[in-house]
Amino acid sequence: MTLKLIHLGNPVLRQKSRPVPEPEIKTPQFQKFLDDMIDTMHAAEGVGIAAVQIGVPKAVFIIEVKSNRRYPDEAPIPLKIFINPEVELLKIGEEMDWEGCLSVPGLRGQVPRAKSLKIRALDRAGQRVELEVSGFLARVIQHEWGHLQGRVYLDSMRGLETLTFLDEFARFWS
Ligand code: NI
Repeated sequence: MTLKLIHLGNPVLRQKSRPVPEPEIKTPQFQKFLDDMIDTMHAAEGVGIAAVQIGVPKAVFIIEVKSNRRYPDEAPIPLKIFINPEVELLKIGEEMDWEGCLSVPGLRGQVPRAKSLKIRALDRAGQRVELEVSGFLARVIQHEWGHLQGRVYLDSMRGLETLTFLDEFARFWS
């Protein structure tokens, strides 16, 4: 089932998400919620979505890159679910690249992000997962993790000079 995305200006988007109690993870209600998040991400053609973006400030985000019209150049990333994530940025430098957000429709901007990071979280079975990642996946994780802190990518831009509507992006920047 597809859920309604909330947009910048909705105060919930600025809340810090709360950890999910571990016993809750295996409940049918929570598993259904995860499936609804996946449906919502697919319907919106996103590469990631945090629970807070559908108005539920729980510390969960999911990421998946298939062939994606919004990000045609990126390699596929199989579906990943991160519950109660902890992120440690690795100090090997930053990269600047474009981001957009389903909660800030129609815009893109350049955001500096750490090139690589470690993430520890629980998966949908409640199992501990730990990954070290770099590149686009590291960028998407930092973007979604920001949502759990009540941040959006605009907060992480160095300035707003590259903020671009999608029609102008297609004309001038891609
Ligand atoms: Ni976003």
